[in-house]
Amino acid sequence: MTAATSIRNLFVTTALPYANGKFHIGHMMEYIQADIWVRFQRMRGHNVHWVCADDTHGAPIMIAAEKAGKSPQDFVAEIAAGRKRYLDGFHLSVDHWHTTDSPENVVLAQDIYKKLKAAGFVSTKTIEQFYDPVKGMFLPDRYIKGECPKCGTKDQYGDSCENCGAVYAPTDLKNPYSTLSGATPEMRSSEHFFFKLSDPKCVDFLREWTTSKDRHGVPRLQSEIIAKSKEWLGEDGKMGDWDISRDAPYFGIPIPDAPGKFFYVWLDAPVGYLAALKSYFDVGKAKANGESRSFDEFMAAADTEQIHFIGKDITYFHVLFWPAMLKFAGYKTPDSVNVHGFIQMGGEKMSKSRGTGVDPLKYLELGMNPEWMRYYIAAKLNANVEDFDFTAEDFMARVNSDLIGKFVNIASRTAGFLHKHFDGKLGDTSALAAAFPGAIATSHTEEIARLYESREFGKALRRLMEMADAVNGYYDTSKPWELAKLAAAGDSAARSTLHSVCSNVMESFRLLSIMLAPVLPNLSTRAFEFLSLPIQRWVDVTSALREGHSIHAYQHLMSRVEEKQLDALLGVVAEAADAKKSEKSTKPEAAQNGASKGNTSAKAAVSGAQASATVTASDNAVIGIDDFAKVDLRIAKIVNAEHVEGSDKLLRLTLDVGEVDADGNQKLRNVFSGIKSAYSPESLIGQLTVVVANLAPRKMKFGVSEGMVLAASGKGEHNSDGLFLLNPHAGAQPGMKVS
Ligand code: 2FM
Ligand code: ZN
Repeated sequence: MTAATSIRNLFVTTALPYANGKFHIGHMMEYIQADIWVRFQRMRGHNVHWVCADDTHGAPIMIAAEKAGKSPQDFVAEIAAGRKRYLDGFHLSVDHWHTTDSPENVVLAQDIYKKLKAAGFVSTKTIEQFYDPVKGMFLPDRYIKGECPKCGTKDQYGDSCENCGAVYAPTDLKNPYSTLSGATPEMRSSEHFFFKLSDPKCVDFLREWTTSKDRHGVPRLQSEIIAKSKEWLGEDGKMGDWDISRDAPYFGIPIPDAPGKFFYVWLDAPVGYLAALKSYFDVGKAKANGESRSFDEFMAAADTEQIHFIGKDITYFHVLFWPAMLKFAGYKTPDSVNVHGFIQMGGEKMSKSRGTGVDPLKYLELGMNPEWMRYYIAAKLNANVEDFDFTAEDFMARVNSDLIGKFVNIASRTAGFLHKHFDGKLGDTSALAAAFPGAIATSHTEEIARLYESREFGKALRRLMEMADAVNGYYDTSKPWELAKLAAAGDSAARSTLHSVCSNVMESFRLLSIMLAPVLPNLSTRAFEFLSLPIQRWVDVTSALREGHSIHAYQHLMSRVEEKQLDALLGVVAEAADAKKSEKSTKPEAAQNGASKGNTSAKAAVSGAQASATVTASDNAVIGIDDFAKVDLRIAKIVNAEHVEGSDKLLRLTLDVGEVDADGNQKLRNVFSGIKSAYSPESLIGQLTVVVANLAPRKMKFGVSEGMVLAASGKGEHNSDGLFLLNPHAGAQPGMKVS
């Protein structure tokens, strides 16, 4: 659905995090994904109510609270108090944050249960389970250890052996013990309550629900999830019943008319979505957000869409248990469940259980820009259930090259001409769409809207950066610095062209700022301020800036990410990368392609100032044309070359890459290159070569290096060092793109 024809009423949720720990980057990824989608919908004029809450119940939290010497209520309240820093810090526009340990959740969970029971979907069965006689409680499997029944290895968990891989039941363990008290558990029996998922009505409903489309004709589940559900539902439709009760002591919601019995945490957790929404209505926030109906009216309305964002590990609960519970309790069922994969670091999931990787709070405390992270995550996301790797090099390359080198650059290089020559006033931009190849047209803005709608954020950003490239290309080929010189000398035609070019470029910047706003709300707001405009909505892509509209003087919009910030953030991981770098640097003049473990995608970008990019057979990972297109290769003229005092490897090169500043003055780059062993500085002056122009600047001992010149390396016939600087054929000019 792309056309904003009718106003949608969207009830959006993100998975409720367990209230027993800090957020990790995986949480932030989900919230950022949801936030981008939600902001896009709001920009389109739809009503969105996004709620979330702490998931507070269950044995692990009860036990953690006890260990901390606190009541479970106090324990979870303290965790909840820490959430705001993350939410505000990453510009997450969640409308209400609640808790499953709330009166609303008690009422709703008990109501759903009673209705399920009345409809015949609850059964009871006596089951046998390990019981800790010292703690006086039944033991969840994770609190039982013992000797592997197969190989005898000690201290194995109740499900599988880490030594021999055997899989078994906790009751198979030899000499089992409770990890809570050390006591030998006893088998005891207890009556449990079950939700009858095996009821054919339930299976029929789930078969239909999981494979059907939402009201917009879009499948409510992703294809991978539909396939998974089919597997779970099985050919013969045999689903096991779901154990929904736990015995006291348990931190949870009491089961009505069943003293000493509580709902298993996974029953009341998703009900927490409804409880959070109810609380949002009851405290008046929905009203403040333009919703005049009550919670009950809103939930009963046919046009209310219920949309969940979750991680792939909790799919089962959300596409089987949850819709079935709602359906047979007579509640509204979800419209869609959007499932994402995990962020990994070197192939390992960054998760709640392993506190490794990028710590979001540390990221904020280091003063790193939250929108760098939002952009990076968005660039990696698509609508599939796929994991992706976080690497420092990729992060730095994307942020610096896309956001600074492409997007912000458009405004910073153009504003000066408009102020110097036209008093900051724009000319006519109504013919923008036809002004240059790739100029932003309605078809582009509609395409981007479709991509946001379908959560193809990576594709949306790639398309937006292609548009930014087209704008920058138009700027470059129009040569405003030359037009400015002619205009200053009295050439009125040049002056008029200069005005038109700069105005078209600035209008393109406005359009890009609108389309990037869901991902970069803060940067876009500042861009609109600079353009002297109110906050733009999506519909504003259909109108152009008026002729004569004044913009403010350019003000710094965003800084580059620095390597040292990422080093500080990643700590140990960065050290590993350094070790890898120094190992590689023992090869003569080899590019120091250090990257965090397990990743090959950003090798060119990390090599910084090194001279040559050697590629070994093992480095030959295949890349797509899109990846290659990220590397901005330019012809550079070596206008000066000199020795670097204190370095026996480097030469300092001064390069003309065809760049100018806003006043039309030539801008030269300083690049350190490890080619001293192969070339004398004098022999290089005046030569043309190829430079990676969009490499993040790298601070070195001798100064900042602003690019990397390319050289071949290996054993050469006449050159003992085997280093050969690339040299284009005659006729190439500084600044020309190499592709
Ligand atoms: O996996 C988890 O972190 C759960 N706390 C998610 C619950 S989502 C919803 F059902 F509440
Ligand atoms: Zn074993």
